[in-house]
Amino acid sequence: MTDILVVYYSSNGATEALAREVCRGIDSVGGMASRLRTVPQVSAVSEAVQGDIPESGPPYATPKDLAECAGLVMGSPTRFGNMDASLKYFVDSTVSEWASGAATGKPAAVFTASSSLHGGQESTLLSMLLPLLNCVCHRLLDRVFCVTFVR
Ligand SMILES: Cc1cc2nc3c(=O)[nH]c(=O)nc-3n(C[C@H](O)[C@H](O)[C@H](O)COP(=O)(O)O)c2cc1C
Repeated sequence: MTDILVVYYSSNGATEALAREVCRGIDSVGGMASRLRTVPQVSAVSEAVQGDIPESGPPYATPKDLAECAGLVMGSPTRFGNMDASLKYFVDSTVSEWASGAATGKPAAVFTASSSLHGGQESTLLSMLLPLLNCVCHRLLDRVFCVTFVR
């Protein structure tokens, strides 16, 4: 079985619902299996932090997930035309995996949920594409696809 990592952040469930649909598509392809992961909500040092295991839903993504997957799909809610800070924090915390070639030759895709049409989802997708395109430039990633969902 070939795993595709689907990693998302969602505070109200719209992006999570999209992530589950993406997984459904992956699982419908012979020989492919989705690996659904979320990321913890990022918090300031002055706030209480969450535990290592979410109270419900899929587990948190780890660098190992990135290394083991054959492809990567990332999803974030639109936040003023940008990706959510929690997903950005995850991306920034995996720099050594990218640098060590954990994603080399792997395709990647992004998706977003927003509350309005033309509410900044294009720029949100671009914000998620930026680190991926940077990896493409450094030949750490193969190719990047872009999908917009409004839910
Ligand atoms: C801080 C913040 C900023 C947001 N910015 C936008 C925006 O720029 N455009 C938009 O259409 N929706 C915006 N929204 C709405 C969310 O993107 C939308 O409700 C999304 O579906 C939430 O996804 P979730 O249910 O996975 O958390 C914003 C919401 C929050 C909390």
